Amino acid sequence: MTTPDTARVQSASLSPDKVMHKLVSLAKRRGFIFPSSEIYGGLSSCFDYGPLGSEMKRNIKELWWNAMTRRHQNIVGIDASIMMNPTVWEASGHVSSFNDPLIDDRTTKRRYRADHLIENHIEKLRRDGRDEDALRVQAAYEAAGGSDEPNRALYELIIAEAIKAPDTGSADWTEVRQFNLMFQCNMGAVADSSGTVYLRPETAQGIFVNFHNVREASRMKVPFGIAQIGKAFRNEIVKGNFIFRMVEFEQMEMQYFVKPGTQAEAFETWREERYGWYTAQLGLSPEKLHWYKHDKLAHYADLAYDIKFDFPFGTEEIEGIHSRTDFDLTRHQEYSGKNMEYVDQVTNERYVPYVVETSAGCDRLFLAVLSDAYTEDVVDGEERVLLKLAPKVAPVKAAVLPLMKKGGMGEAAMKLRDELAESFAVQYDDAASIGKRYRRQDEIGTPFCVTVDHESLENGTVTVRFRDTAAQERIQMSQAAAFISARLA
Ligand code: GAP
Repeated sequence: MTTPDTARVQSASLSPDKVMHKLVSLAKRRGFIFPSSEIYGGLSSCFDYGPLGSEMKRNIKELWWNAMTRRHQNIVGIDASIMMNPTVWEASGHVSSFNDPLIDDRTTKRRYRADHLIENHIEKLRRDGRDEDALRVQAAYEAAGGSDEPNRALYELIIAEAIKAPDTGSADWTEVRQFNLMFQCNMGAVADSSGTVYLRPETAQGIFVNFHNVREASRMKVPFGIAQIGKAFRNEIVKGNFIFRMVEFEQMEMQYFVKPGTQAEAFETWREERYGWYTAQLGLSPEKLHWYKHDKLAHYADLAYDIKFDFPFGTEEIEGIHSRTDFDLTRHQEYSGKNMEYVDQVTNERYVPYVVETSAGCDRLFLAVLSDAYTEDVVDGEERVLLKLAPKVAPVKAAVLPLMKKGGMGEAAMKLRDELAESFAVQYDDAASIGKRYRRQDEIGTPFCVTVDHESLENGTVTVRFRDTAAQERIQMSQAAAFISARLA
């Protein structure tokens, strides 16, 4: 093996505020992510995954699916429909409570989350060392949440603190209004409220309503889990940061049903398991992952933590771990009239199970992976861009490159490509110099480049070049599939 010459690869400094710009551009140019319906000017906060993006997203989903279902004897998957009986959303509390408090600026016609304006203001007071003021505003903010007229109280706090719009500095505020985040549509021929259905804002409810179906069909005993990957829709008013906050996105959720009183233990187990998955499976940098404990809980939870990640634009949530109590099953029991109790066959105990939920956003994980992997360095004095993706996540695992197309090398390389394609995603490339072709593969995160050269035709060997170190190793061509497969595990 050619010894990796560390002097060949030198790191380059990269300012975080430039990374997003570069990522968005690379994502489009190389076919990871395109703006949705771009030829018509796009649609705000909607994106399409291109050839490499869809491959990488599949890898992320598969890693999650395997870790959550196949690894666990007592967790099974489902794929529920996006549209459900509208009473589901009354029972879940989404019709009455899935709201954001919004405020408009009359001058600029821009819209903001009132709670975010206040939370950012409190943060700023803290940063400026005005701890007493921060505590005073925090107390008023919490009191507003519990008051008879929370919208009025939030508005008065914004006015009293003279909070300005962060982007324009304007403060010509309207009253605060509640805005429901669910998308409504009409089912059937009549466009009145009797046909109103919602696009699901979370996948979780498809799991709750199928609790007994899955339990009976799969002969599950508590504790057991149901996992699902699927689209969710939220009419998010505050958008931005590329695919971080979208109106149509994909969730990967698992509901773990436990006996009441055992939820704290299950919560800790899942907290640990989910955190470990990000480094062991997804390959995220451990120093960029953080825990955040919720003080303000959602209407269904008695304990909640977020896993947050250091994106180039700040530290933000990628997954929530929630102890949801028996809220959802009890409410579905109430609204459907169907018994949602579980009967323990051994002890004859009856109870509505408690639920520990793990809820990750696939698109956010995609962005976390992409931003963590983005690297610029210098190889042999030449600058390059590379994605240091974990081989399991990389959209293309290997590229097969004939040194020259002529002299039989092109045919031999194409034959090798076909052989490798039986085991993993592989690309063949014979256009431009070998150096340029290496750079093209570095930029999309391909961990291995296999070069077919003159020696290959003479003795059946090829070189394997490693993306991060640019080091090369000569191996038998017949061993290439096994050599690479062993490094994808
Ligand atoms: N069932 C619980 C639930 O939906 P959530 O915290 O609202 O909890 C879970 O959402 C995850 O879904 C978040 O951690 C985030 O990764 C993802 N998510 C939520 N809203 C999103 C949006 N507008 N765009 C992209 N991902 C989103």
